Amino acid sequence: TPSFIIAIDGPAAAGKGTLSRLIAAEYGFHHLDTGLTYRAVAKALLDAGLPLDDEAVAEKTALELDLAGLDRSVLAQHHIGEAASKIAVMPAVRRALVEAQRRFSAKLPGTVLDGRDIGTVVCPAAPVKLFVTASPEVRARRRYDEIVSGGGKAVFDEIFADVKKRDERDMGRADSPLKPADDAHLLDTSEMSIEAAFRAARELIDAAR
Ligand code: C5P
Repeated sequence: TPSFIIAIDGPAAAGKGTLSRLIAAEYGFHHLDTGLTYRAVAKALLDAGLPLDDEAVAEKTALELDLAGLDRSVLAQHHIGEAASKIAVMPAVRRALVEAQRRFSAKLPGTVLDGRDIGTVVCPAAPVKLFVTASPEVRARRRYDEIVSGGGKAVFDEIFADVKKRDERDMGRADSPLKPADDAHLLDTSEMSIEAAFRAARELIDAAR
């Protein structure tokens, strides 16, 4: 039997990450946060002092990426996310990373991949596709609360502006823009707890297995 693939897409800070980890733990599946692959390429370029707008250089870095070495604690930094969304518009970078993501998706007994284009491009045949959203205000609020409760300083209006700018870049690009697959289940978490979202996801997954 092939790997059972669960594709989870949506904009930044919608709750995909938490939901994906809960699902992977529940079913004993492997999990790949594909945003980390774009972030790792961006960080490698920044560290090496290389430009973020040279497609051939970025492609070479993407081809050399080791999925086993992704460290979310380092890659979570805000400026790396910004840089990631810039290199993510390049088709050659996407081709290289999608290839690595597809290899990962074949792991047994199953996998959870989360990102922007999993259901549309990376794993279009996945038996379960979720599109997780929340309003920009709610997503900015969650990000703000996360930073402040961690002891950091943040200005809500700046975070709100960042969320909207990132949405525009992710939805507006020509290659693999952020959008729900035709057969994706929409999960709007604006007024839903993570527990409720997890229950809804479990019902969809159990019905498909
Ligand atoms: O989800 P995360 O914020 O870590 O993603 C960082 C950036 O990587 C996103 O803003 C997006 O531009 C890009 N990305 C993508 N396709 C994916 C995952 C992330 O283009 N599957």
